[in-house]
Amino acid sequence: MRPILTDPFNRTIDYVRLSVTDRCDLRCFYCLPEGTHDFIEPEEWLTFDEIERVIAAFSSLGVRRVRVTGGEPLVRKNLADLTARLSQLPGIDDLSLSTNAVGLARHAQALKVSGIERLNVSLDTLRADRFKEITKGRLDKVLAGLIAAKAAGFAPIKINMVVMKGINDDEVEDMVEFCMEHDFTLRFIETMPMGETGRHATDHFVDLQEVKQRLGQRYELIPGIMPGGGPARYVQVAGTDLRIGFITPISQHFCETCNRVRLSVDGTLYLCLGQENSYPLRELLRSGVDDEGLKSAIMEALTLKPERHEFREKPSQVVRFMSFTGG
Ligand code: GTP
Ligand code: 5AD
Ligand code: SF4
Repeated sequence: MRPILTDPFNRTIDYVRLSVTDRCDLRCFYCLPEGTHDFIEPEEWLTFDEIERVIAAFSSLGVRRVRVTGGEPLVRKNLADLTARLSQLPGIDDLSLSTNAVGLARHAQALKVSGIERLNVSLDTLRADRFKEITKGRLDKVLAGLIAAKAAGFAPIKINMVVMKGINDDEVEDMVEFCMEHDFTLRFIETMPMGETGRHATDHFVDLQEVKQRLGQRYELIPGIMPGGGPARYVQVAGTDLRIGFITPISQHFCETCNRVRLSVDGTLYLCLGQENSYPLRELLRSGVDDEGLKSAIMEALTLKPERHEFREKPSQVVRFMSFTGG
């Protein structure tokens, strides 16, 4: 029998989101401030050996899903060497990656071979000029990355679109057609007040319940399901394979079914995306802790997991940027 890791609210924690870098090759205005220099120093990054140890400890406690995130995970050198090691860990049966896809054309094949099965890709617009305004980067690289990902055989490929009023909310239907054509799953995300940048984004907040209604007038939407461990709620467009997920932390939060914790690149465990509760693991790892000690520390950390985020009640509470823990 597999062990089960639970938190103080009796939720089963089986999903670790692993941030392998806090750096990113884009500067989305709602995420990472332009001109940021205070990134974590390399000496403080967990090494691949250290990451593998922590994930192995989690897996022996009952975690079965690992999602690799950033920042932008592909900027961490030799990422496929790490994911090959993680995919070999007994008990880890869902290894996935969230990426902006800028570097994916180069890395897709090696990542697939390393054991990653599925990908989530951030893409807020299909217009090159808008893409540049939102991210400071180039859309053609992302599209090339998506083509490479499909060719490498990743499935499913989910597109994450943060819907923002006056920025890209007029592209919702275009994105539906794009994902239908390419056999991608589409997910819409509500803006969250993470850090100063995230709070600017919430000026453009769109309630996704309204988007669902709008799409319901154009397409026949039926209940849908999708493999994955995240908070999206899905519908399917009748007569097609397209699934559309709604990630609604603000209009309909999903904390009562939360199943995850986050490990940042400096070895801090964050117990909630929307709260600062954390537990430092790096010093412990570097002081020669044994496996039992590491597992005890993780269980102690889990006692700090809060019940829910308070994005509505205390929107200025979270000081770290989304890029730090990767969403
Ligand atoms: P799967 O369902 O397993 O494919 O993954 P996922 O949806 O959890 O992963 P992804 O990295 O694509 O997450 C998409 C977005 O959902 C994130 O960028 C966040 O915006 C949001 N999200 C994910 N997890 C949480 C969470 O625990 N709390 C909140 N409030 N939002 C989350
Ligand atoms: N609110 C909602 N989503 C955000 N993301 C980044 N910042 C925010 C925010 N403030 C999204 C990205 C990406 C994922 C990692 O998180 O667009 O899809
Ligand atoms: Fe879990 Fe916190 Fe996300 Fe809610 S906001 S789903 S409690 S991590």
